[in-house]
Amino acid sequence: MIINETLKIIKQRRSIRSFKDEQIQEEELQAVLEAGLYAPNAGDQAWHFTVIQNKELLDRLNLAAKEAAKQMDMEHLRELANNEKFDCLYGAPTLIIVSGNEHAPVPLEADCAAATQNLLLAAESIGLGTCWIFFVLLAFYSLQGSELRKELKIPEGYRPYSSAVLGYKKVAVVNVPDRKPNLITYIR
Ligand SMILES: Cc1cc2nc3c(=O)[nH]c(=O)nc-3n(C[C@H](O)[C@H](O)[C@H](O)COP(=O)(O)O)c2cc1C
Repeated sequence: MIINETLKIIKQRRSIRSFKDEQIQEEELQAVLEAGLYAPNAGDQAWHFTVIQNKELLDRLNLAAKEAAKQMDMEHLRELANNEKFDCLYGAPTLIIVSGNEHAPVPLEADCAAATQNLLLAAESIGLGTCWIFFVLLAFYSLQGSELRKELKIPEGYRPYSSAVLGYKKVAVVNVPDRKPNLITYIR
């Protein structure tokens, strides 16, 4: 079995949902962002990264997302939204939202997903905890959605497709579920 640093990091990364209050260092943030910018993309880098490190704004995004989730058809989202203790950002001090140009000639969802995975792996490689967060994007479908877009300076015509929280892990070790069998077909 071949093993190197990259493969180790890929296997080691897990979603972290408990963070220390302390903010990450600027050079750590920059390393992670740069990795995001080097992701494969079909839309000629038609993406935009928004870094939010303002606690008050993070709290407002959490509350707006929960308000929107209360109106959703999906019961598990409504349950989370109605749980007062649930923080969809898990107290992480940094949130990166990845938006894509809606008018790009190709769908930007895949580009933004590739960038997000790069963010997660880069963060793991320098010891940061991360979690991919869909839930917070619901904030943009709340009553405050367009106001929040403006406040976050998301460029006109760009849509937030994915996001990730970053911070120092409170709990470093989490269980790694076994990988499911029979997910690969070989035609040789
Ligand atoms: C598109 C996408 C959206 C996700 N959204 C959330 C989310 O809103 N909240 C959350 O806690 N985890 C979210 N996750 C993380 C998954 O729950 C997690 O990756 C999965 O359970 C596998 O665990 P692992 O990341 O530790 O391997 C998301 C993952 C992906 C790929």
